[in-house]
Amino acid sequence: MKDAAPQTIYLSDYTPYGFVVEEVHLTFRLSPTATRVLSRIRFSPNPEGPDRDFFLHGEDLALISASIDGTPVQPEITPQGLRCDVPDGPFVWEAEVEISPETNTALEGLYMSNGMYCTQCEAEGFRKITYYPDRPDVMSVFTVRIEGPHPVLLSNGNPGASGDGWAEWHDPWPKPAYLFALVAGDLVNHPGQFTTMSGKKVELNIWVRPGDEGKCAFGMEALKKSMRWDEEVYGREYDLDIFNIVAVDDFNMGAMENKGLNIFNSSAVLASPETSTDANFERIEAIIAHEYFHNWTGNRITCRDWFQLCLKEGLTVYRDSQFTTDMRGAAVKRINDVSDLRNRQFPEDQGPLSHPVRPESFQEINNFYTATVYEKGAEVIGMLKRLVGDEAYAKAVALYFDRHDGQACTIEDWLQVFEDTTGRDLSQFKRWYSQSGTPRLRVSEHYEDGTYSLQFSQTTPPTPGQNDKQPQVLPIEVGLLSPNGDEVVPTTLLEMTKAEQRFEFTGLSSKPVASILRGFSAPVVLERDSSREERAFLLAHDTDPFCRWEAGNALARDGLLAMITDGAAPDTAWLDGLETLLRDSALDPDFRASMLDLPGQSELAQALHERGVTPDPQAIYDALERLKMFRAERWADLLPQLAKETRVTEPYAPDADQVGKRALGNGVLHMLTRLDGGAAAQKQFDSADNMTLQLAALAALIWAGEADAALRAFHDRWQHDRLVMDKWFGLQVALARPDRAAEQAKALTEHPKFDWKNPNRFRAVFGSLAANHAGFHYEGGAGYDLLADWLIRLDAKNPQTTARMCAAFQAWRRYDDGRQARMRNALQRIAGTPALSRDTTEMVTRILG
Ligand code: BES
Ligand code: ZN
Repeated sequence: MKDAAPQTIYLSDYTPYGFVVEEVHLTFRLSPTATRVLSRIRFSPNPEGPDRDFFLHGEDLALISASIDGTPVQPEITPQGLRCDVPDGPFVWEAEVEISPETNTALEGLYMSNGMYCTQCEAEGFRKITYYPDRPDVMSVFTVRIEGPHPVLLSNGNPGASGDGWAEWHDPWPKPAYLFALVAGDLVNHPGQFTTMSGKKVELNIWVRPGDEGKCAFGMEALKKSMRWDEEVYGREYDLDIFNIVAVDDFNMGAMENKGLNIFNSSAVLASPETSTDANFERIEAIIAHEYFHNWTGNRITCRDWFQLCLKEGLTVYRDSQFTTDMRGAAVKRINDVSDLRNRQFPEDQGPLSHPVRPESFQEINNFYTATVYEKGAEVIGMLKRLVGDEAYAKAVALYFDRHDGQACTIEDWLQVFEDTTGRDLSQFKRWYSQSGTPRLRVSEHYEDGTYSLQFSQTTPPTPGQNDKQPQVLPIEVGLLSPNGDEVVPTTLLEMTKAEQRFEFTGLSSKPVASILRGFSAPVVLERDSSREERAFLLAHDTDPFCRWEAGNALARDGLLAMITDGAAPDTAWLDGLETLLRDSALDPDFRASMLDLPGQSELAQALHERGVTPDPQAIYDALERLKMFRAERWADLLPQLAKETRVTEPYAPDADQVGKRALGNGVLHMLTRLDGGAAAQKQFDSADNMTLQLAALAALIWAGEADAALRAFHDRWQHDRLVMDKWFGLQVALARPDRAAEQAKALTEHPKFDWKNPNRFRAVFGSLAANHAGFHYEGGAGYDLLADWLIRLDAKNPQTTARMCAAFQAWRRYDDGRQARMRNALQRIAGTPALSRDTTEMVTRILG
């Protein structure tokens, strides 16, 4: 039972726990509806925690017995936990509780997925397993005994004794309860081995359901690469004899970094060329790296409290993006990360859910695993590294590991190591952690007598709870190009600290063209009155790949906005500039494919809103369609040649080279489909030997309205593969025509394979509906109503996934009165649902404002 009247928790209220947990012993007697958990925990008074109130968290637990130092006690029990009188000195707490994993549909705590037991404890799930001080600053050494008739019994740390029907595990590294994990089931493993830099052999395993063992090889290689990379780049070595990864089908998130026993959503680890797209492979590689990197940034050094979440998540996202950059190339990774930031974090930061990278209050912490904490949190680290330089960054991080190993830390600890190694004062920089909202950076330029100056001004619009904003430190990377395209001033870092600031470059022989915010050196909205000619020049000549892409992106966006608002014709100068790039076979195909991407519908809606225009989703959709058709026709001659150039003849490999070719080739296929009605797509669909080509062809056929047979064939071929069927469900909704999207989603909920309690399947249908901008917002509001109905239904089973998906409504105030009223109505209907979870209540309340 969750709190009836949700309480708000404040960062400023932090106090240490009154007790130290010296040691934890847990015994699990597994049974689907009556698992017994026996705990024996040694406590002692915490000299740093003045409050001697002995409180243990516990939710949905049946207490069978409890004792202190062997004497039975009768604690006072509330829906949140228990209280008890305890001795003044050290004591041993023992308890036995009963829980029901089979009926646990929230997928938090100990639950069952396809007959297998597994756990998810972050952030506050351990309290659903036993009574415990479930807070990240309480760290202890765990010994676990599992009893159950399952061939595989796993927990954290190193394996201990085992026998028929039981196994023991010991984790020597003190950890908070949120990193606890247990898995039991009929699983098979894909084994591997890794020798660490000091020569220690580590046993590796990926555990999966029988039948999935053929989909583990790629994940295993990604794991080994991650282990090596963390040694080489951060000097971090693995610290146990064994590292286990388990794939589960029912999982709220992507994956979880439990010490020595990572648990993954099967979609985030299982891969094969026939069933996974290139994008799936890339994501799997990144997520395996991410969870592995947490072993140091998160586990060895953890968070003092959940307000410090970005300490581990922002840093670990930053680390996994460095890893992907090293594995796959910098340019496209940066472009993808920036698109992601703009599509997911900017809307959050510019709407009712806006919050700082380090929030100061919450009701339900699960609602703060956000794009802001993760992606903006990673951007903040990137800025810090830019400001202090690579060498100082490496020194500071080494000091962080050295100084804080084994501790539960804060953002202050993190910044302190940078201040100590560089002597810099980071107090202004710290505003990035406390101020919410996306800064707008305006720039104007001036040239006279060989001196070129850039005049910048920054402002951050008000966000909920924060009306007055202070100037932030902005690292602005700039390069100057001469009119013939030579770089006259190479990338230079300008450090802006004031609301208005001017920077000068002298000794120039002519007026340069500036390439500003290279590499997207700060997460801001750059406002620059550059001419189309200047942008076209940067598109053709910029030496910074991100800014080159950005120039094309800005031209595309402005051209589309003009088409939407004034019915303008497509910008042919931009298309001609792009064509020159596309024809340049010396350019990386992956980069060229990125150049083909157009701003998303939601991004365009936001851009219109920023310009004071109420977005009309159908008009946005129509303009994009018009542009895509226009582009295909204009480039008709170029397409066959590009298609040929991007054909891959070697056996499938998800490496950067092939991925780029397929990405460009699939971009070409979509253009061809607009000219040939689907003939090329049908051919590609029929002959594809990998999912990347097959799915792109299916998408093209859906667009062409010629997919009936292909959808049936795809269904029949893949009906037994859960992950491929998620694609089948998702694509049909994501690509449905606006007037058909809600209907399509509804029809799919009636399909026998629509298992709404499985988060992947639920997201396949409803995440795709929300992502289908014109479809979700189609006049009449059928999309809103359908999503609200299903969120209300899901909330009773799985609050966490429900709450996250409420964000589909976050931008409701952007739209016209009619749409606003319909979305408000949908939100109020959710809000008014009896017994609505704390998670969803908080989200809809904040969104309604
Ligand atoms: N620690 C999180 C998983 C998590 C999040 C557990 C929220 C409980 C509540 C994990 O490290 C993580 O961040 N996973 C991401 C993927 C990652 C590559 C950003 C996820 O699951 O989406
Ligand atoms: Zn993480």
